[in-house]
Amino acid sequence: MSNELAKRAFFSRPPEPPADFLLNDPSNSIFIGITKLFNTPFTWNFDGLTNPHIAVVGITGAGKSFFVKTFLIRASYIWNTNAIIIDWAGEYKAWVKQSGGTIVSLAKGDYINIMDLSGMKPLDRTKQIMTSLEILTDISDFPEQKRLTEEAIEQAYVNAGFVLSEIADPKREAPTLKNCISLLEEKLQEGTYEYPAELENAVYRLRQFAREGEDYFAKKSTLDLGKLASSGLVDIDLSALPDEKFRALAALFILQSLKEKMRMEGWNASKGLKAIVVLDEAWKIASDERSDAVMIVREGRKYQFGLIVASQNPTDINEAIFSNVGTTFILRIKFEKFLNYLQGSMNFSDFMRREIGKFGVGQAAIEMSFQTSVQFPEVFLINRVVGEVPLDVYTITLSEILNTEEMADQNVQKEYYFEKIDLNGKLIENNVSASTIDVLFAEMDKKNRFVDVRAFAQILLQQQVGKQDVISVLRGMGLTDSTITRIFTYL
Ligand SMILES: Nc1ncnc2c1ncn2[C@@H]1O[C@H](COP(=O)(O)OP(=O)(O)OP(=O)(O)O)[C@@H](O)[C@H]1O
Ligand SMILES: [Mg+2]
Repeated sequence: MSNELAKRAFFSRPPEPPADFLLNDPSNSIFIGITKLFNTPFTWNFDGLTNPHIAVVGITGAGKSFFVKTFLIRASYIWNTNAIIIDWAGEYKAWVKQSGGTIVSLAKGDYINIMDLSGMKPLDRTKQIMTSLEILTDISDFPEQKRLTEEAIEQAYVNAGFVLSEIADPKREAPTLKNCISLLEEKLQEGTYEYPAELENAVYRLRQFAREGEDYFAKKSTLDLGKLASSGLVDIDLSALPDEKFRALAALFILQSLKEKMRMEGWNASKGLKAIVVLDEAWKIASDERSDAVMIVREGRKYQFGLIVASQNPTDINEAIFSNVGTTFILRIKFEKFLNYLQGSMNFSDFMRREIGKFGVGQAAIEMSFQTSVQFPEVFLINRVVGEVPLDVYTITLSEILNTEEMADQNVQKEYYFEKIDLNGKLIENNVSASTIDVLFAEMDKKNRFVDVRAFAQILLQQQVGKQDVISVLRGMGLTDSTITRIFTYL
């Protein structure tokens, strides 16, 4: 009855899953951060989720790469997870080096032969190469050229002693695209083929990947794809390749090979993930329906590796990825059209939308898709991704200030030490922008991470940080007001 209803207290569920869904066994999950509403530590694992794959979106400087690094390091502590970063812009190289990982630099001494089989049947690999060509070139518009190319690839395998439908001896050396091109050229020279223009175009298309000096994918491989998924932390640096097409070809090939390898090995009982593959800003790979990134996410849990797709522009990520990944991390997003897209596909509230638009560095909204239906909102907020980067200590010295007469006799701490991440946090807390933080760290790096406190304050002021904010940064670092007054007197 309405009078009974009227007596009930209105109750609305706060947008955060209950703690049982957020707090997992710390020896079998990855700590991410503290939730905003109930201060619950959020530890991620994919046991209850539809799959282990992750999408990360946010504007430049929002903290995508930082999140990825943190995640990879913790996964390696907890599960011994290997990681393969398909590094579009060479962004992760320095970090991987510092963390003792392996760097594969394509176009700088490292090669991949895209005809390598790594345990696959030549027929299957041929199909994959054709898919890559379809994504990256206009070959699907020319059925005759497509047929000629496919035949040439198969013939090259046969000529090298492979049986198309059989898994070959791993020691047998695979042919290269150059062999395929030669076959097509021979056919052209024979002069008996009806449509020579089709042949010429097929040769032309393949040759762009096999030109002398640009034959990064048409030479004997220098990396062992079979071992890629079990080599710790590996950075595949694509930044030296001449253009997007080459980068995409490498990325597609690596994804295909890893997927096949995992498929062949099948699931085993070990907990966690065997490997994580990172695709950061690889829009061509993440957006095309036919790409393995889309297939891997669609096919869910069966590969025992997790794919992380990160992008500044959510519309560059195929909708099938968004609607199927087990977890999405939304960092700061500014553009209305991107917010519309995310809200449309994830169905979060207007409250959530406003929060996302206001995020500072590292703040995030997280969406998890559970295997069973749940009675609570699946999108929630965390205060900040709590970071994990190798120790970088910065020293801020007060000695020059203290050497001035007035201060000489005072008992004041002379040097302050900060871990980069903490200093970063203090700057963020005081509204210093990501670009200013980058400038500040670059300047301090130039001085071997040892700076006078006045130089430190000066850099901030030069970067248009207000005096009040500089004062609160210094206070936050533990300096007393009288010391801060001195610093400004001597600026
Ligand atoms: N959660 C965090 N805590 C502390 N510092 C952070 C956090 N997230 C990011 N930062 C710092 O902010 C800066 C920008 O972060 P990051 O490089 O991860 O941004 P991004 O989203 O990958 O940007 P881009 O799209 O340009 O690659 C870095 O200096 C990083 O150390
Ligand atoms: Mg980045």
